[in-house]
Amino acid sequence: MIFAAILAGGIGSRMGGTDTPKQFLDLGNKPVIVHTIEKFVINEKIDKTIVLTPKNFINHTNQLIKEYIPNADDIIVIEGGETRNDTLLNSIRYIEENFGIDDESIILTHDSVRPFVTHRIIEDNIKAARKYGACDTVIPATDTIVESINGETIESIPVRDYYYQGQTPQSFNIKKLFNLIDSLTEEESNILTDACKIFTLKDEDVHLVDGEVTNIKITYPYDLKLANTILEDRND
Ligand code: CTP
Repeated sequence: MIFAAILAGGIGSRMGGTDTPKQFLDLGNKPVIVHTIEKFVINEKIDKTIVLTPKNFINHTNQLIKEYIPNADDIIVIEGGETRNDTLLNSIRYIEENFGIDDESIILTHDSVRPFVTHRIIEDNIKAARKYGACDTVIPATDTIVESINGETIESIPVRDYYYQGQTPQSFNIKKLFNLIDSLTEEESNILTDACKIFTLKDEDVHLVDGEVTNIKITYPYDLKLANTILEDRND
């Protein structure tokens, strides 16, 4: 089976000024999270879409789905975790308990606050996760990357051609991900903030999938303005 996990368990502290996490703010005429969920639900290859939110937003999310998304039978809303990684782990535990995991089980994990993910990116993630077992969506770095350890002086300026900006989805063969998580020491699991890092730490390949400049993450108020501009541009 192919699963999508929409990671919406965060509180959006960098957005500031509102008790409503950014994924529930309006973008155009509907909440950000609705735009994001829709992109996965319309893909016929995806069997189940699991949305993970803070506990006190589960009912609200179910209501939004009822209001905006027809044919929502394959959407499940459950509680996220304390960190983004915990939220991801909740999704794979839920899958294991409720559907079981076999060699073909794939999960696409996606930030709820990246509403402009495209059909092409989702298709490429499914293909790459099937073929390679793990993939990350990236775009080439455009700015020069400067490394500084002390925050005051430059340590090095790496060759930009080797650097990319990570987006989502990040997609995995679930069995492989589960086995790798099992093999982590406690120290390793404490420092891991990113599922792709688990693969690289264990010397497993993570394939690159081309992202899009417009596949932005809404982090700060400015990003929401930019998102509205991107949306208007598309509606023209
Ligand atoms: N996320 C999650 N569970 C968490 C924390 C984050 O599912 N415990 C999700 C967010 O909801 C978001 C995505 O991970 O869709 C990207 O994280 P980020 O932009 O850092 O979101 P927040 O943690 O909400 O933002 P902030 O760091 O500003 O508080």
